[in-house]
Amino acid sequence: MTTHTVEFVTTGETIEVKETETILKRCLEEGIAQEYSCRVGMCLACSAEIVEGEVTQPAARGLTEREAERFALTCMARPLSDLKLDRGKYPPSIEGDAAAGGAESAGAAADD
Ligand code: FES
Repeated sequence: MTTHTVEFVTTGETIEVKETETILKRCLEEGIAQEYSCRVGMCLACSAEIVEGEVTQPAARGLTEREAERFALTCMARPLSDLKLDRGKYPPSIEGDAAAGGAESAGAAADD
């Protein structure tokens, strides 16, 4: 069974992920604070930009085909090579939701 190294570039955290398991699953096992919500490839909360490497994520329904070339939904993505990911980077299709209080600002409390 092939295992790949997944490095998160902003934190330097590194995990080993088998080709048969998702990146999010291994993050949770290793105590890495990867954001997530639906865990079924729809909400985009678990998105990360692919800096280097390749994933398979046929069930990442929340991404357009073009977005899936540049972003990984870690709840669905399995590594096909060693990877470098930038966690917390979201595809353009989420921008409208984030501006209105979507996943990117989910932890922000209202003033007052
Ligand atoms: S947790 Fe919702 S798309 Fe991954």
